[in-house]
Amino acid sequence: MPSIYQENILDHYKYPVNFKKVENADLEYGDKNPVCGDDITIYITIDENQKVVEVGFQGTGCAISTASASMLTELIEEMTLEEMKKLTNEDIKEMLGIPLTPVRLKCAILPLKVLQGAIHKFEGGDVGSSVDKTE
Ligand code: FES
Repeated sequence: MPSIYQENILDHYKYPVNFKKVENADLEYGDKNPVCGDDITIYITIDENQKVVEVGFQGTGCAISTASASMLTELIEEMTLEEMKKLTNEDIKEMLGIPLTPVRLKCAILPLKVLQGAIHKFEGGDVGSSVDKTE
């Protein structure tokens, strides 16, 4: 029983928004889902007020991770760095609007994890493989 949410997810999977590399991005970071090896890289350019000017993502992922990345890039358009920092797993669940098993949840929050890594790296943090605020 396809819901409007499922259709929206399939739409974003088939025609992802902002699926591009942003040259000379201020924030750039990639990470992968250790379970399947799918990876996503996010690129963000910000202005002097730390507001998003341009955002893009690339990588290979399943329907959920790709749709989540596509929807997330749409969500953060025009957000500030501080606003992006406040995004949580709950926001992602709400954004997708479908029930998620623990495995699918990993897929869904991969783009947020990457975004958090990008911000952390931009702020001079160590982004070794230990950055995982998604648990
Ligand atoms: Fe790899 Fe979903 S199966 S991110």
